[in-house]
Amino acid sequence: MLEGKRVNLRVAEKEDAPFLAQWFNDVGFIGDYQSFPIQVSRNQLEAQVLEHKLYGHEWVNFIVEKKDGTKIGEACHYISAPNFGWTEIGYAIVPEERGKGYGTEAIQILVDYLFLSRDIVRMQAVIDSENLASRRALEKAGFKKEGTIRKALWNAKGKWADAHLFGILREEWIEPRMLQTLE
Ligand SMILES: CC(C)(COP(=O)(O)OP(=O)(O)OC[C@H]1O[C@@H](n2cnc3c(N)ncnc32)[C@H](O)[C@@H]1OP(=O)(O)O)[C@@H](O)C(=O)NCCC(=O)NCCS
Repeated sequence: MLEGKRVNLRVAEKEDAPFLAQWFNDVGFIGDYQSFPIQVSRNQLEAQVLEHKLYGHEWVNFIVEKKDGTKIGEACHYISAPNFGWTEIGYAIVPEERGKGYGTEAIQILVDYLFLSRDIVRMQAVIDSENLASRRALEKAGFKKEGTIRKALWNAKGKWADAHLFGILREEWIEPRMLQTLE
């Protein structure tokens, strides 16, 4: 369990597959800036959650929970370009809990966790150029815009959108902000 100040991240279990399927199949959860959800079955999600793999490469799902155990979202890390081994993160908070700082904290926890547990020098996130909430949450977590990828994302409105690539380097992270570490 990765414990932050207001939320925890725990690795998704088989038992989480039903509501992950409900979330991932719901355009309200996916939001306006990701592609219209390609429907997935509980079985498909269960396999992904248990194997920590999607498309044959590492993909780890976490459940974002409030301190009282209420499930309010999902966060993940995965290898986005296997030939380069780029570590990328993704995240979403249920609509009724957005705008309360939980998304930013989930990202900060993932950043701490990945830099503490792996010998990586950078990680990245790819967002719709109009996704201001996601952009702001990444900036608050220390990410910088690295570039624009034109017409990279097919969004839920059925349109091609430009993407912004955000990244954070290990030397920009410096020390954990959210996770406790041993002295
Ligand atoms: C992106 C997302 C995870 C952000 O989580 P969140 O909990 O709502 O974000 P936070 O409350 O931590 O807010 C982060 C910052 O964005 C700002 N923000 C939130 N919603 C915003 C909006 N619609 N427009 C502009 N800024 C916004 C907040 O004010 C805050 O900045 P501030 O502290 O300077 O005021 C959430 O909006 C979401 O789940 N969206 C749908 C899924 C998605 O797009 N995921 C990302 C794919 S790349």
